Amino acid sequence: MKAKDEKLGEGCCFFNKDTLVLKLPKKSPILSRMVVLAVVMICSVYICSICLKQTKIHKESNFMRIKLIEKPYHAHRIPHAQIPYVHYPEPITYSRNECACAPVRFFTIVSMQRSGSGWFETLLNSHINVSSHGEIFANKERRSNMSAIMRTLDKVYNLDWNSSASKNECTAAVGFKWMLNQGLMQHYGEIAEYFNKRGVSVIFLFRRNQLRQWISLLANSHDQYAKQLNGTHKAHVHSQYEANILARFKPMIDAKMLVPKLKQLHDWVVDALEQLKSNRHMVIYYEDLIRNDTKVKDVMDFLKVPQRRLISHHVKIHTKPLSHLVENWDDVHNALAGTQYESFLTSDYQM
Ligand SMILES: *[C@@H]1O[C@H](CO)[C@@H](O)[C@H](O)[C@H]1NC(C)=O
Ligand SMILES: *[C@@H]1O[C@H](CO)[C@@H](O)[C@H](O)[C@H]1NC(C)=O
Ligand SMILES: *[C@@H]1O[C@H](CO)[C@@H](O)[C@H](O)[C@H]1NC(C)=O
Ligand SMILES: *[C@@H]1O[C@H](CO)[C@@H](O)[C@H](O)[C@H]1NC(C)=O
Ligand SMILES: *[C@@H]1O[C@H](CO)[C@@H](O)[C@H](O)[C@H]1NC(C)=O
Repeated sequence: MKAKDEKLGEGCCFFNKDTLVLKLPKKSPILSRMVVLAVVMICSVYICSICLKQTKIHKESNFMRIKLIEKPYHAHRIPHAQIPYVHYPEPITYSRNECACAPVRFFTIVSMQRSGSGWFETLLNSHINVSSHGEIFANKERRSNMSAIMRTLDKVYNLDWNSSASKNECTAAVGFKWMLNQGLMQHYGEIAEYFNKRGVSVIFLFRRNQLRQWISLLANSHDQYAKQLNGTHKAHVHSQYEANILARFKPMIDAKMLVPKLKQLHDWVVDALEQLKSNRHMVIYYEDLIRNDTKVKDVMDFLKVPQRRLISHHVKIHTKPLSHLVENWDDVHNALAGTQYESFLTSDYQM
């Protein structure tokens, strides 16, 4: 029974169809049975003649036929345009059991450090059918070349990646968080091709106010050295107490470098959107996510997972107005006044 179940993972999609075909002749009178028999014989002769002609590409034609049978099944439940994005992985390390026939979508969150992606990912992972495995390419070895990257991606999308975000066999959307500077920018072409071939959807998550992002980057890298919380560095915190300690530090900003820095952050975003534009994608901004509840619903729609209420226990570190977050606010203000980044000085948001 067990072995049969596992086999169903591959064949379950034909199961209903076969029983239908077998049942039909039972109800028909003898004459129709003869007709069916004749049709079957003619078909067999026809198929045989084709097979004889194509012995060389026999394997391929077999594959084609399987594809042809498989399509109608998907078609009647899944919209045609969605078919490239629907998968039925068969993990090596466990069996998907009763969920073997439930479709799985592949995604990647493309983001930059300090864009709220840690918070966004815990939000997604609070969904019982979503597994987002974190920054798997923070590990340099996994991104040392394209074949190492693809090996890692294959493992994730085959549902064989085991992390604290792994869900049970009923995962309906699987992915991870990919920072631009973690091998992604170096291999855009090949990665876009892989995403298209495997039907991976991209969620771009960026921050509108990149001045805030830059301040957060500076503060976070300060903490990497200073380790303000009992000697451990924390990129994300789970209590207001911890958040307050980290927020005490005010970085000093090199005002001369500020405009070039903001331009670089902006260019990276523009380039990412351009390089991966052929892939199915959606763009979200952190500021919109925290302001507007329907944005998270849009993400669940995009991933085609059931709508649920999602929760995150991350606590925002910097909640004060921007002018309170840096040591030399006047310099920053003067550097950006009159530039295209001026609005970053004033645009703020409530938590
Ligand atoms: C989501 O997970 C639950 C519990 O594991 C499962 O019963 C359900 O079928 C899954 N939904 C989808 C859409 O896969
Ligand atoms: C790619 O990187 C992996 C891991 O660092 C290494 O083992 C492998 O030899 C590399 N392959 C090529 C073709 O450079
Ligand atoms: C994943 O890792 C956990 C903890 O190391 C282990 O208990 C679990 O069996 C692993 N799951 C799979 C499917 O390998
Ligand atoms: C730091 O250590 C003290 C004493 O061990 C403890 O009470 C406190 O909660 C710790 N703080 C953090 C942020 O981990
Ligand atoms: C919230 O987002 C939705 C789309 O995701 C948009 O239609 C709506 O206008 C937004 N609401 C506000 C108040 O911005």
